[in-house]
Amino acid sequence: METVILEWGQLFLRWLHIITGIAWIGASFYFVWLNNHLRPPEKNTDGIDGDLWAIHGGGFYRVQRFAVAPEKLPKELHWFKWEAYMTWISGISLLILMFYFEARVYMIDPEVADLTVWQAIAIGVGAIVGGWIFYDLLQKSPVGKNQLLFGILFFAFTVAVSYGLSQTLSGRAAYIHVGAMLGSIMVANVFFNIIPNQRKVVDDMVAGRQPDKEAATSAKNRSLHNNYITLPVLFIMISNHYPFTFGHEWNWGILMGISVAGALIRHWFNLRGQGQKNYWLWPLAALGLLSLAFVTAPRSHGADGKKLTYVDVQPIIEKHCRGCHSSQPTDEVFKVAPSGVMYDTPEQVKAMAEKIKIRAVNTKSMPQGNKTKMTQEERNLLGIWIDQGAKLD
Ligand code: HEC
Repeated sequence: METVILEWGQLFLRWLHIITGIAWIGASFYFVWLNNHLRPPEKNTDGIDGDLWAIHGGGFYRVQRFAVAPEKLPKELHWFKWEAYMTWISGISLLILMFYFEARVYMIDPEVADLTVWQAIAIGVGAIVGGWIFYDLLQKSPVGKNQLLFGILFFAFTVAVSYGLSQTLSGRAAYIHVGAMLGSIMVANVFFNIIPNQRKVVDDMVAGRQPDKEAATSAKNRSLHNNYITLPVLFIMISNHYPFTFGHEWNWGILMGISVAGALIRHWFNLRGQGQKNYWLWPLAALGLLSLAFVTAPRSHGADGKKLTYVDVQPIIEKHCRGCHSSQPTDEVFKVAPSGVMYDTPEQVKAMAEKIKIRAVNTKSMPQGNKTKMTQEERNLLGIWIDQGAKLD
C-alpha cells in the first residue's frame, strides 16, 4: 500500500511540476521573444520605446513597452512569480518523495560510494543550498560586474559540483541534483532578487520618486542568467529517460557538454533577437552534441577467446536481476516486474539481450541503484556473452 501511495504521489507531483514549469518557462520565453521583437513606435509618445502587434487565437493584440515606467501605475498590474514558485515547490517535493524517500534505490550506488541514506541526502541538499550561496555571493562580488568573467567562474563551479556529485551519488541522482541546484538558483533569483527589485521600482513610483535604475538593472541581469540556464535545466529534467547519459563513466562531462550546447543555442536565439545572425553557433553546438554521441557509443568488451553460453551468465541474472524482473519478484519495493520485464526463462533473457547490455554493461543503470552490488567482472562477462550473440547453448 505504501508503495502505491508513493507512486501516486510522485505521479501527481511530476504532473504538477511539468504544468507549472511550462507556464513559467513558457511565459519567460514569451517575454524574451517580446523584448526581441518590439520595435520603436512611429511617434515617440508617453515614454514608450517598443511597440508590437500580434495575432493569436483569433484576437489582435498590441503590446507596448515603457523605456522606464509609465507616468502613473495602472489599477491592475500582473506579476509573474507563482509559476516559478510552484515549479520549485512541486519539484522539490518530487525530489524528496522519490529520491530521498527511496534513497537506497535512487540516491546510492555502492559502486560509486557506499554512503548511508543520510549522507547521500546531506550531499544532495548541500549541493542545492551551496549552489545558490555561491552564485549569489559571486554575483554580488566585484566579479558580478563583469558578465563574461562571472559566466566563466560560475560554469567552472558547476563543473566542479557535477564532478563531485558524480563521485558520490548514483549517476541519476547526480544529474537530478545539478538540475535541482540550477533550477533552485533560477527560482531564488525570482524570489530574492527579481520580484523584490520590481517591488522597489513600483514602490518608488507610488511614492512619486524616480524609479531606482540599479534595482531594475540587477533584476535584468538575473533574468538573463535564468535565460541561459533554462535549456540545460530542461535537458537534465528529461535526462532520467536516457541512461546512456547519466550512466556513463564520464557522466559529469557529458552533462557539461550538453549544458554548453544548450547555452550556445540560447545565445544564438538571444543574438538573433538583437539582429545579429551568428550562424557559426549552430554547427558548433551540433558538433559538440555529435562528439558526445560518439563518446557515449557502446564499445565492445573484447572477448578473450572463450565461447560463453547461457550457463555462464545464468547465475548473474539470477543473483542481480530476478529479484525484480520476474513473475514473482522477491524485492521489497518492486512487487511486479518493472516495465513488465521478466527474466524467468533463457529465451526471455536472450530476447532482451541488447537492452540488457545497455542497462547492465554500458551504462550500469541496472540493477537499479546497484542494489545487489553487481561487480565490474560480472558486467564484463555479461557483455561478452551478448557480444558473442547471446548463445543459449
Ligand atoms: C531493484 C530492482 C531491480 C533490479 C535488481 C534490476 N532491475 Fe532492471 N529495472 C528496474 C526498474 C524499476 C526498471 C524501470 C525503470 C527504469 O527503466 O530505470 C527497470 C528497467 C530495466 C530495463 C529497461 C526495460 C525497458 O523496457 O526499457 C532493463 C533492460 C533492465 N531493467 C534490465 C535489468 C538487468 C539486466 C538487471 C540485472 C543485471 C536488472 N534490470 C536488475 C528494477 C530493477
